[in-house]
Amino acid sequence: MTAILEATDLARHYEVGRGAFRKPATVKALANASFSVEAGTTLAVVGESGCGKSTLARLLTMIEEPSAGRLIIDGEDVTAGRSDPAALRRKVQIVFQNPYGSLNPRQKIGTILEEPLEINTNIPAAERRQRALDMLTRVGLRPEHYGRYPHMFSGGQRQRIAIARALMMEPKILVLDEPVSALDVSIQAQILNLLSDLQEDLGLTYIFISHNLSVVRFVADKVMVMYLGRAVEIAPVEAIFEMPQHPYTRALLSATPVPEPARAQTRIKLKGELPSPFNPPSGCPFHPRCPHVRPEICVPVRPELVQAGPTLVACHGIEQGWIPGAATVNGATPELGAERLA
Ligand SMILES: Nc1ncnc2c1ncn2[C@@H]1O[C@H](COP(=O)(O)OP(=O)(O)OP(=O)(O)O)[C@@H](O)[C@H]1O
Ligand SMILES: [Mg+2]
Repeated sequence: MTAILEATDLARHYEVGRGAFRKPATVKALANASFSVEAGTTLAVVGESGCGKSTLARLLTMIEEPSAGRLIIDGEDVTAGRSDPAALRRKVQIVFQNPYGSLNPRQKIGTILEEPLEINTNIPAAERRQRALDMLTRVGLRPEHYGRYPHMFSGGQRQRIAIARALMMEPKILVLDEPVSALDVSIQAQILNLLSDLQEDLGLTYIFISHNLSVVRFVADKVMVMYLGRAVEIAPVEAIFEMPQHPYTRALLSATPVPEPARAQTRIKLKGELPSPFNPPSGCPFHPRCPHVRPEICVPVRPELVQAGPTLVACHGIEQGWIPGAATVNGATPELGAERLA
């Protein structure tokens, strides 16, 4: 399989003013993100609020430029500065979390769908209209919805419209930033099924951003777990759920409900709060909250991503073997049990 998207050490910093008498601070919203996504597959990006997921989404969709690093999309280096950035932009489209805020309330659905074609192509009006009508059917809406306004639709229907709009330019990659988080659980499944059908029919590649691991398990081929702007674990979806490696991944999983209550898990409670991104911890960014921390190495030295079986993980404890590697959180292995906090 070939990678359609490849990021190498991608980073984004923001300068943030902190009032008149203090120097502006730098937030490392994203640091050293390196990963690749195979064509036609889904990479899920998970992590707590503020860990840099939407920042990554803005870089991948070229809404913002990275502060450093390289991004290759469909064989072309986005970060090299090329003659036709617009052509490249069309290959990656984004769907946002909030279907209420992302559609212009004054535009009819037909206009919303046709706008990208009108701006970017010479396709004549009659054909634009036909494409919009076809797209409505494709996303599970009806042709008569063409002349209606966004407020006439439910949240789920609006998200279908947002997906339809993203697909009008026939992109290869969709970045989905929490696409179902704002929807009722019953509607979430419908939208996830729609996304899965569209992926199969159109051969789309998805970057699926979510904080909900149950959803991720359903959609992902590969999962990237982020903490404070950094990837701490990247692995095939089965590996993430069957043998999570990083202590942070294990903690996230232990907080996710499992379908079989017989395998009920002990919840790993993390110490303390998510640290401020203005002042991230030295060494391993997770060390202040880690139940396995060894301060002599975790505080001064930042762990790099290393291969552990099918998984890439950035953790001294896994690398040096003081945290049992192939333990499963849900399977409650004795080694892990001893170190779990109540
Ligand atoms: N334009 C900006 N200016 C300054 N700081 C920013 C900007 N955008 C994001 N940040 C900061 O960068 C960090 C990452 O933000 P980001 O929105 O990427 O997080 P997220 O993972 O998407 O969070 P959430 O789950 O809440 O959507 C946060 O600390 C945020 O405050
Ligand atoms: Mg976000």
